[in-house]
Amino acid sequence: RTVAVVLAGGTGTRLGLGIPKQLLKIAGKPIIEHTLAVFEAAPEIDEIIVLMAAGHVDDARQIVEKAGLRKVTKVIEGGDTRNATTRIALDAVGPADCNILFHDAVRPLLSGRIVRECVNALWTYDAVDVAIPSADTIIQVDDNDCITDIPVRSRLRRGQTPQAFRSPTIREAYRIAEDDPDFAATDDCGVVLRYLPGTPIKVIDGSDENIKVTHPVDVHLADKLFQLAAAQAPRLTDHRSYSEELTGRTIVVFGG
Ligand code: CTP
Repeated sequence: RTVAVVLAGGTGTRLGLGIPKQLLKIAGKPIIEHTLAVFEAAPEIDEIIVLMAAGHVDDARQIVEKAGLRKVTKVIEGGDTRNATTRIALDAVGPADCNILFHDAVRPLLSGRIVRECVNALWTYDAVDVAIPSADTIIQVDDNDCITDIPVRSRLRRGQTPQAFRSPTIREAYRIAEDDPDFAATDDCGVVLRYLPGTPIKVIDGSDENIKVTHPVDVHLADKLFQLAAAQAPRLTDHRSYSEELTGRTIVVFGG
């Protein structure tokens, strides 16, 4: 059994709207509805669990009901941090061994291809991450904003979600983390890397479109990407994303 956990427990302070950003409508639907629809359509996913920000659980339930998302079995309240939300999700998934994909609700442009490759990789690996190369040089700075290191760019990736695990692995990592008073992490692969060192974490290719709606500009970007995807829809095969379809096939000239 493979469960998709959609993490929607945040409030979107950087976007600064009056509502959690996952409820913002883009291309006619709340962001979270787009995200849930990808898992609903993915043949590899058996069940979806939604963790929603406090005070908005009913909003999420209504979205699920109205959209007729039949794979969603639970819509419950998340925690104070992303990792706290993950912990609650692990309890909600139940004790039976399964595959779990954790995905940010605010990455609505996830492709079916990425979901499939995550689930396939779990045949071989206990932990799987999704990432893309960095076009920008990444620099490391100290407290005074002075450079301390410039890691070799070809070795760097920008982490996205889903992050996928065999359930015993992610449970064990969080169990060990519970005893660490200095526990701090922004994602779930980081918890495995830190508390179960030596566990290979396979990285599969994400996509440029799988953006996390974080800042106001991302709302415009996501809106445009949905438009492009809709325009391309008849040509898109096998749940490939728009940029994947373009790569190596078409020369696009912007402007006139
Ligand atoms: N998330 C969560 N529980 C939290 C915090 C975040 O499930 N306590 C989820 C968010 O809802 C989002 C994903 O984790 O889908 C990525 O987090 P981020 O983009 O940082 O979302 P927010 O915490 O909502 O945004 P901000 O940091 O701007 O407040």
